[in-house]
Amino acid sequence: KSARKFFVGGNWKSNGTISSVKDLVFKVLNPAPINFSKVDVVVAPMAIHIPLVQSILRPEIQIAAQNASITGQGAYTGEISPEHFKDQAVPWIILGHSERRNFYGETDQIVAGKIKRTLGAGIQVIACIGENLKERESGVTTEVITRQLSAIKNSISDWRNVVIAYEPVWAIGTGVSANPNQAQEVHAEIRKWLHANAGDVAAKTTRVIYGGSVTDANSNELIGQPDIDGFLVGGASLKPGFISIVESCA
Ligand code: G3P
Repeated sequence: KSARKFFVGGNWKSNGTISSVKDLVFKVLNPAPINFSKVDVVVAPMAIHIPLVQSILRPEIQIAAQNASITGQGAYTGEISPEHFKDQAVPWIILGHSERRNFYGETDQIVAGKIKRTLGAGIQVIACIGENLKERESGVTTEVITRQLSAIKNSISDWRNVVIAYEPVWAIGTGVSANPNQAQEVHAEIRKWLHANAGDVAAKTTRVIYGGSVTDANSNELIGQPDIDGFLVGGASLKPGFISIVESCA
């Protein structure tokens, strides 16, 4: 297992109602026995539910937004900026998720701009990277990961404010998780990149978490790998099994 403090995020994506969110908080998250000295737990509700969740969630669990704009306050209809999330006391933002990249045209450059703005606003970032199936099958996973990391490198001056989420696109929402060896292999590549590009300390301390069909049935064996520091969980974070995933870390 990794020596870093574990980190488990629940990305609720575009799911939930006021009533289902209350159920999840009151019945699953608030009563759970979690060893917070060993694991950071962060949940990412839809933006519209963030104030509600802030008002009812136990304070040891932190909150993330799922996206933010590349612009600040102003005439940008429909956008929510990092500065607005700061004003709302949101400590984390997920950026570069493959659903943002694939469905909303977010390029490496856009992701880099959003990360820069978010860190500049004083908010921590969960930065997502990952190859798609075609890229994996043609053997260019390392190149893709390296390209995505290089694109965001200059946006980050202090790696203590960043968690890297490795989410192979072929594993997201498919029920087909990367196996522990496949995940470990890429996590080790990411750490190697950190060593070369962000320095020894960042390589040792930055959390690299895995996302893609993580459930309470596979989290135990995944977390046994030395470079897997936790998870970013989608579908399974909406269910009671999320707590077992958190418990597999600590
Ligand atoms: O951000 C988490 C995610 O993309 C993984 O989703 O549903 O495969 O756990 P899921």
